[in-house]
Amino acid sequence: MTDDAVVPHSEHPDPASDTTSDEDPVNAQVEQVGGRALPIGTAGDSLTEVSLVVPTFNEAANIGHLLCSLHAVLTRTGAAFELIVVDDDSPDRTWEVAAAVASELPGIRVLRRTGASGLATAVICGWAHARGAVLGVIDGDGQHPPEVVADLVAAMDERTDVAVASRHVPGGGVSNWSAIRRLLSRGAQALGLLLLPGTVGRVTDPMSGFFLVRRDVVATADLDPVGYKILLEVLARGDVRRVAERPYVFLERAEGESKVAAGHYVGYLRHLMRLRLHPLRSRALVRYLLVTAVALLADAIVFLWIFDRQGWNLTRSAAIAGEVGILLTVALHDLWTFAGRATRGTIDRIRRLLGVQIALGTLLFGRLLAINVLVNWFHLGPLAAFCVALAAITPASYLLGSRLTWRGVRP
Ligand code: GDD
Ligand code: MN
Repeated sequence: MTDDAVVPHSEHPDPASDTTSDEDPVNAQVEQVGGRALPIGTAGDSLTEVSLVVPTFNEAANIGHLLCSLHAVLTRTGAAFELIVVDDDSPDRTWEVAAAVASELPGIRVLRRTGASGLATAVICGWAHARGAVLGVIDGDGQHPPEVVADLVAAMDERTDVAVASRHVPGGGVSNWSAIRRLLSRGAQALGLLLLPGTVGRVTDPMSGFFLVRRDVVATADLDPVGYKILLEVLARGDVRRVAERPYVFLERAEGESKVAAGHYVGYLRHLMRLRLHPLRSRALVRYLLVTAVALLADAIVFLWIFDRQGWNLTRSAAIAGEVGILLTVALHDLWTFAGRATRGTIDRIRRLLGVQIALGTLLFGRLLAINVLVNWFHLGPLAAFCVALAAITPASYLLGSRLTWRGVRP
């Protein structure tokens, strides 16, 4: 760490930051910023390597200890860093506690933001004021272990655009979550996969609020400040090629309380929909849905033809029809939906084909079982049984097919 990374308060170019009293050494550490969204921009200061933003709201009890730990961890990495606390004018005066630490340790900046609130906008605000070539974010309540920052910094080699701390890779986890909270978290992720397979499927923990990103990736990206999950914004709208993941265990909160309420899930859903409708991405979605529809139609037509016309037996007809649907899905996604994006090597194609075959083949087996149960136990007609089973299994096929085979490919 070099002291060059720290520009004294009075030299900071943002005019909005010059309003605090310079008498008091602690208050002099505080940069006042307004709520207006600023662009992130391409210009760093060529000296700062990493700018880590810590968004806070009522974290007075946590921020002091966290900043000291982060400072120690970042110093050990040897990178020139700045830590930027973005506090939304917390009633518990978090900014004041942070400023007291900043007056003792170099490389810590405190932005006291008025006129706006919200986690995602706070992070973007911090990045807009940052000077580093790599930007990052970590929670201010101690739930993200500070040591993991060192792993993320190490992961950011020249080929990596985003390094994500993940709860869902080996070595990661959640400490003490109830079954219902785990379910909600996984449910939200599954929904994300369904709506935005190419974005959400790129990482194991798309909801992570703990990651680093190369400045170029987001500098000119049109990050939507009303967006909710900032990592989703970055993956969907940033120019992200390579993503690395490092494990972390989501710790329990020692002090204060989570700001996440039920509205959180509604916000998340709206965010997914907004990203889904984002023009650049929607073409792939339309294709994805069309391919799914064509495959289903082919599945049904082949079934009708061999079962009804040729008089083959029920299970065999449904199996052949299902297989036609699977092969058509693979071929069309590869040649059309993800054309030009999927890796085009033969090995890769074979790997994808095998992946889909295993995943959808398993589901097909389930479907055949369902058809037989419906016919033999519930005395449904074979055609009705076929349709019910097809409709019941489709959502799962849609999910699995995209997850297993085109993850890492951006629609
Ligand atoms: N500036 C600012 N403004 N900060 C905020 C705001 C706000 O409106 N709301 C929350 N924060 C800060 C909190 O003070 C905390 O430092 C951090 O953002 C995370 O908020 P929590 O309320 O503690 O969220 P969580 O623990 O339920 O979830 C967090 O961790 C998840 C797992 O990594 C969030 O970061 C999620 O995005 C993340 O998925
Ligand atoms: Mn938290």
